[in-house]
Amino acid sequence: MTPEMQTKEEILTSALPYIQRYEGKTFVIKYGGAAMTDAALKESFAKDVTLLKKIGINVVIVHGGGNSVTDLAARLGTESRFVGGQRYTDAAMLKNVVMTLAGTVNTEVVGLINRNGGNAVGLSGIDNNLITAKKYAPKGYDLGLVGEVESVNVAFLNTLIASGIIPVIAPIGVSVSGEVYNINADIAASGIAQALGAEKLFFLSDTEGVLVDGELVPTLTNARAQQLIKQGVITGGMIPKIHAAFEALANGVQKVHLINGATNHSLLLEIFTHEGVGTQIIREEKVFGRASSLKRGSATPSQKQDLLDLTVMTKQDFEDLMHLTDVLKHTDAKPLAGKHVTLLFQKPSLRTRVSFEVGVAQLGGTSLYLSNEGVGLGEREAVSDVARVLSSYSSCIVARLFDHNMLLDLAKHSSVPVVNALTDQSHPCQILADLYTIRQHGKLLPGLKVAFIGDGNNVANSWIEMAAIYPMHLSIASPYGYAPDAATLARAQAAGISTIEVVDDPRIAADSADAIYTDVWTSMGQESEQLARRTAFKDYQINAGLTRLAHPNALIMHCLPAHRGEEITDEAIESKNSVIFDQAENRLHVQKAILATLLAPVDYDDPLLFKEGAGGGSFAASTQPPPNPRLEKAGEQEEYGQTEAAVHHS
Ligand code: CP
Ligand code: NVA
Repeated sequence: MTPEMQTKEEILTSALPYIQRYEGKTFVIKYGGAAMTDAALKESFAKDVTLLKKIGINVVIVHGGGNSVTDLAARLGTESRFVGGQRYTDAAMLKNVVMTLAGTVNTEVVGLINRNGGNAVGLSGIDNNLITAKKYAPKGYDLGLVGEVESVNVAFLNTLIASGIIPVIAPIGVSVSGEVYNINADIAASGIAQALGAEKLFFLSDTEGVLVDGELVPTLTNARAQQLIKQGVITGGMIPKIHAAFEALANGVQKVHLINGATNHSLLLEIFTHEGVGTQIIREEKVFGRASSLKRGSATPSQKQDLLDLTVMTKQDFEDLMHLTDVLKHTDAKPLAGKHVTLLFQKPSLRTRVSFEVGVAQLGGTSLYLSNEGVGLGEREAVSDVARVLSSYSSCIVARLFDHNMLLDLAKHSSVPVVNALTDQSHPCQILADLYTIRQHGKLLPGLKVAFIGDGNNVANSWIEMAAIYPMHLSIASPYGYAPDAATLARAQAAGISTIEVVDDPRIAADSADAIYTDVWTSMGQESEQLARRTAFKDYQINAGLTRLAHPNALIMHCLPAHRGEEITDEAIESKNSVIFDQAENRLHVQKAILATLLAPVDYDDPLLFKEGAGGGSFAASTQPPPNPRLEKAGEQEEYGQTEAAVHHS
């Protein structure tokens, strides 16, 4: 392979997790600035947009007008007047705006994309009442016929999107009583992104993003943005852009990107490469649903987050974890450099122990395994004292205990994150690896049916908790007296995410299942019940007879260790549908993502994260705002009356 081919291969491979993550998601792109006027940039933009659409991303374009509105107004003798940085729009100017945006500019953008293989359709906010607007009346300003978005015809847009069309929208709105309004393109794009629940909103303009001290700020949170506005670092037309960004983030958009349209293929570079090109704006970094004040480059989380069971996770956390697992599989990032993880195990383990130890090492950290004989948790020493002592040596405690309450006690008295490596109550790390395995085999799809056959034990309880996060039909078949935890079941059923049933006939559970799962009949600690359990569970074996009832391609799953010939036959373990050893391997990959999330909760979507030179695959240091920045404004050109300032610190 030539070096050039190798580079290409590396680029394509590293893009894969991002492509998987964004398939079926919606990106709204505000198109403006030089990317609308320079011939080469126009082609690059159209190619990027077409490629995004072809790989399954729903793309919606909202365009500005470049200088076309001002040019036409000058030719027609209409005076351009600006109030507070925005174009005053009277009836004559509105005519120019409509002619330009819905006429020449819109058709040009549509033609450009279609020439490059996209299926673009041009619209203004007036078409099918796409944008219902009302007069925009910021405090103290009268901007005439300038509007803001009141509502968006989402059903119409979704119909277009579902038909493979790229909607190209001119930012003009209409009120319920028929008045037409000129809407700032950033504000229109933000409103449309909010209404569609877009994954991402891009502002493509002529600035690299937010610059501090001449350096691009790769990631900006709300708090930091407010601080930079107060300090006068963010000024001019960038301020409404930032406000439009935060409004989008507050209303469901996952992330907003400010990128420079004057760079060829800036969209693709921002989305799919490890060298991002702009500023990404995020809400606050979160760890399993809870905001963390930890920022990129910080050494330790300010507020610890445990993983004691799956109830702490949201669907978004789960999706983020799956994505992070993909990302970490493709990099040699060392987010745990300098961190130590203590494993405290009261029960035996092969997979959990080894996968945590290897995972910590691969992420650059160190670990130490302690069996309970040496510690005497709760006997030689109080749980609370063990927790305090281990917290002073470790960044994290991974504990496998009998009593779940003892785990809660350990977590309560630890100042570092505690991870449940199995208790009698639950086994969350196992189920996350199992879901990753199902996803890896292309089965994490709407309508997923999982059959759990056997004991309503810790693994079954975690399956139930998972069903309160990810929609599925979970059918659990257990003999009388061996049903899963009733409170766990009731909570998950009340969440209303999945249908969860507990039946006594394994054939009902197995019927048409996409995955058929089992675990030992006698869990660790229940050895004295082994004989009675063998009798109770004898009809609950995964064998050829039972798997025949499931979907022909149903995955056969087991968390291991297996008692071959009891809960599962050799034939089932070795069958072509068995993914049992993938489950075991995935423990490693998913637990690395769990540790990275808890101990170094950075934004793994950030393409700059793994930038070469940013600490050997580790995290780049955060950029601190200068105490008293002297500012120099540049790039005072922006379409549509917005003055956008690229901000430099000289
Ligand atoms: N599946 C599982 O947790 O295996 P170990 O008990 O070997 O860790
Ligand atoms: N239910 C089993 C799971 C082992 C990974 C046990 O607790 O022993």
